[in-house]
Amino acid sequence: MSALDFSTKIGSKRFSNPIFTASGCASSGQELSQFFPLTEIGAIVTKSIMVKARTGRATPRMAETPSGMLNSIGLQGPGIDTFLEKDIPWLVEQQAKVIVSIAGESVDEYGVLARRLRSVPGISALEVNISCPNVENRGQVFACNPDTATAVIEAVRRNIGGELPIVAKLSPDVTDIVEIAGAVINAGADGLALINTLLGMVIDTNTMKPKLAGKTGGLSGPAIRPVAVRIIYQVHQAFPNTPIVGMGGVASGRDALELILAGASAVSVGTATFGNPKAAFDIKNQLEMLLLEKGFTDFRDAIGFAHRGI
Ligand code: SIN
Repeated sequence: MSALDFSTKIGSKRFSNPIFTASGCASSGQELSQFFPLTEIGAIVTKSIMVKARTGRATPRMAETPSGMLNSIGLQGPGIDTFLEKDIPWLVEQQAKVIVSIAGESVDEYGVLARRLRSVPGISALEVNISCPNVENRGQVFACNPDTATAVIEAVRRNIGGELPIVAKLSPDVTDIVEIAGAVINAGADGLALINTLLGMVIDTNTMKPKLAGKTGGLSGPAIRPVAVRIIYQVHQAFPNTPIVGMGGVASGRDALELILAGASAVSVGTATFGNPKAAFDIKNQLEMLLLEKGFTDFRDAIGFAHRGI
């Protein structure tokens, strides 16, 4: 029995430990389950699901960058019907804690998805992805404007009912992240997922053309970790009682600790999984050791520690 209480809370829900997968890097967890039991990590955050099945953007849709990766997937997925029929029952069978990520093309679509998920058993929270950078119309990046961000979260809150925590996933590509965070909290978000990828571009100097078929893509990996740390720090300072699921280039327990000290109540592991499918499991173990080494007996005492005494 560990001397550390490693549990964390997002809204009304408790998770056995604070390491989650990041939406989009492991679908609904099937591929990861051959590497470790999904019950070993705090939660599986599923790939953002939409109302209809989608094939996503044209290929190539991934490119390597210095210390990172650019993706332009375009929200490929099976659609909510298949997801509810296959993915959720499978995850429930694994006894995994599940956070379902949703994405819509309009405010109404988010409402429809929330209604479909409202009374589905086995879901611990809803991640509302309003920040995918890979949409045809930049006006659909709802998280870039406080009014559109508010409209989506209000629609989800209305349709999901009172019980399930809503975590709004925000974009780093804004001038004032604290303003957007405040807007979604006022609209009914119980938590925030910080940060989605940064909009980037790579040009192949041999072909002299963009490497991605979609031209632009979302930058992830260690290159963006300082941006994630800055945003989590700023938002935690402004809203210390709102739980943050931090993400952005976490590849070790020490990286996870950095986001936690900035103010994250949980940490999602994404891009690191492509190099090491066991990354989330390994990072959970490394973080637990590190917290014990530093003398913590309750994980929650580490959340936002970097703010204390400043
Ligand atoms: C994608 O499917 O294009 C990525 C989703 C996201 O970054 O939100």
